[in-house]
Formats: sequence, structure tokens, C-alpha cells
Amino acid sequence: MSTAGIYVHIPFCRSKCRYCDFVSVCSDEDKQKSYVSALIKEINTGRKIFDGEADTLYIGGGTPSCLYKGAVKEIAEALADTFDLRLKEFTTECNPDSFDEEKAEELKAAGVTRISLGVQSFDDDVLKWAGRRHDRKTAERAVKIAVRYGFDVSADLMLGLKGQTEQDIENFISFMSDEGVEHNSAYMLKVEEGTPLANDVKNGLVIPSEDECVRLYEFAYSRLLKVGFSRYETSNFCKNAKVCLHNMKYWTMQDYLAFGVAAHGKTGRYRYYNASDIDKYIREINSGTHRYLTEEEMSEDDELGEYIMLGLRLEQGINVKETEKKFNIDFNKRFEQGLKSAANYIDFDGKTLKIKPCYALVANSIINMFL
Ligand SMILES: C[S@@+](CC[C@H](N)C(=O)[O-])C[C@H]1O[C@@H](n2cnc3c(N)ncnc32)[C@H](O)[C@@H]1O
Ligand code: SF4
Repeated sequence: MSTAGIYVHIPFCRSKCRYCDFVSVCSDEDKQKSYVSALIKEINTGRKIFDGEADTLYIGGGTPSCLYKGAVKEIAEALADTFDLRLKEFTTECNPDSFDEEKAEELKAAGVTRISLGVQSFDDDVLKWAGRRHDRKTAERAVKIAVRYGFDVSADLMLGLKGQTEQDIENFISFMSDEGVEHNSAYMLKVEEGTPLANDVKNGLVIPSEDECVRLYEFAYSRLLKVGFSRYETSNFCKNAKVCLHNMKYWTMQDYLAFGVAAHGKTGRYRYYNASDIDKYIREINSGTHRYLTEEEMSEDDELGEYIMLGLRLEQGINVKETEKKFNIDFNKRFEQGLKSAANYIDFDGKTLKIKPCYALVANSIINMFL
């Protein structure tokens, strides 16, 4: 039996950012308490899905750092009571606005080892435009606290926010590097349907074009490399091999369990998805009528397609022998056509298949040649 990762979704934020369509709402402490209590009940039944070991835990959201004091510990203890936890990594997502010394202390005591901070930008006007609650000073303070308390720290940078310049990216990267942050994620802004941003764009708001976003990504990429980061996935960079072990499980299609609204998990080919309605989730868990929104058994072909799609976004690429063993295929035969069509864009030595680093941003079109 493989070693799984565990994801827990916290659907609360202090306010909603202009661009965000993640499942989260603003709430009071009573709602948070009802949710965590339901979550723990769901966790307690988790053995039905999985009875092996788990070695990564990721509490994401939403904004887990805006939960009431003690909530993360309660969740971690419920998981430890239910599963055989041998954690190599325990990440909690935090917003700089709700991460201070007291929160650091609390999370440390709960066993958290890694903090993922949504910094996004170091330009106060850009942050305000994006609807963020923090400014540059607050973000810098949060990063310094997380480093001082001995957490592994990851900082999110967004690319393509209105008004953002190369100088903003430069400031972000040199600060993170100087402070000893060893992981950064750099996401190009996506205009998600149903967000205030999408509405504004429909009404004529002009935001950076795709070409401009690519230019900012390439700038960030070259600056990150210059200060010693390596890219290990299209949007993820680290120093000293500090990859996010939990996310690596998604990208290499290992097992992961998931709890909470909008969370989805997988064991082998079995996939399950929780619905997004928070009140309904609490009600159904409490009345014993909770069911997954969907459950499915993936076909071997779909699983192979996803494995190729995720693997080709990784800098390490796809290991041919492992793929042949996992799917019982002859790699060269199965992908004869893809290998031919993509020949100019890939590095393939018979043992590993990778997209050439300079084509990382057009990975999707190259991946399609293999599907
Ligand atoms: C759940 S949030 C991180 C924690 C916390 N909620 C925060 O925002 O500080 C996950 C990350 O996804 C990224 N993100 C969210 N919406 C996005 C969008 N529309 N386009 C690109 N990146 C986005 C942001 O970088 C954000 O930090
Ligand atoms: S980006 Fe983070 S803080 Fe902002 S609404 Fe989304 S989940 Fe909440």
C-alpha cells in the first residue's frame, strides 16, 4: 500500500479578492466552529477509504490562518487519531494579514512545518487593486516571522496583476532570497468566470495581455534562477531541493485523501469529490447523510493521459521505465506518434521524457500531442 498525502479544505477568508474563485466565504467564529466539528466527523470516518500511512498534510483554502485559535490543532489531532501519520511535511496556507507571532506560535504547537504565504505582489497599489487586505510591509513582516519561527516558507507571487511592473517582481524575489525563503510559486493571473474581475473585464477593464504576462513570467523565471532557485514545475521554484512534497503527490499521481467542502481525493483509480455548499455539508455530516458529490473509477487510459499531462509539467519529466511498469505498456510504441510530432520541443533519451525548459509555457500544446 502506498503512502498517501492528506488535503483539508478551509472555506473561509476575511474578505474575497477580486480575482479569486476558490471555494471560500466570509464567516463568523460560530460558523467556523460548526464547520471544523463537521470536518472532524468526516475525518473520523476516513478509514473507510484508506488504512495505510500518510506522510504529507496540506491545510489549504480559503485561508486556514483566519480560523479561530486552536482549530488547526484540533484538525491535526483528529487526523492523527484516525490515520497512521508519519508526516514529512505539514503545510498550512496563510494570508499575511492573519499571520503574526501568535499564529506562528499556535501553528508550530500544532505540528505545522511549512507555511505557504499568499503574498502576490510587493506593490501596494497593485495589492489594493487585487483586493488584498495586506500591504508590502505586512507581507514582509509575515515572511520574517515565518522564517524566524523555523518554518519552511513558500511565498506566492501573481503575475499579470494590473499595474504590475518588472520592478515589483524584482523586489519580491530579492526580498525572498535575502530572507532565506526556499520556495516560491509564480502564477499567471487567470480571469475566472463569476469573479468581480471577470465582470470588470467584460465591462471593458483592460488588464495585461497574454504576451505581457509571458514577458513577466520570463522575467521572474530568469531572476529566480539568478538568485539560486530552480524550477521544478511550471509555476513552482525552490532552493536546496525544498520541493512541496504534498503537491508532488498530485503531480506524480500518488494517493491523496481529501476532507472538507470542495475537496477531492484519490486512491488508486478511485476518485471522489465533495460538493461546495458549506451549510449543506455541515447538515449532512451531522445527520449522517453525507455523500460525495461524485465518485468514479478512472479508466486506465484516462489515468495514463493524466499521468503524462502532469508529468510533462515537471522539470524532472517522465520516467519511461516507471511508466511502463505502472501501466504495463511499451512506451515507445504507445507514444510513437507523440514522440514524432513533439520531437523539436522535447528531450527524450529513451529513459526520461521532458519538455525543453524554453517551451514550458506552451507545455499544454505539446502535451496534447501525446494524448
Ligand atoms: C488559497 S490561496 C493562498 C492562501 C490565501 N488564501 C491567500 O490568498 O493569501 C492560493 C493561491 O492561488 C493563487 N490564485 C488564486 N486565484 C488566482 C487566479 N485567479 N489566478 C492566478 N492565481 C490565483 C494566489 O497566488 C493564491 O495565493
Ligand atoms: S486569494 Fe486567498 S484570501 Fe483571497 S479570496 Fe482567494 S482564498 Fe481568500
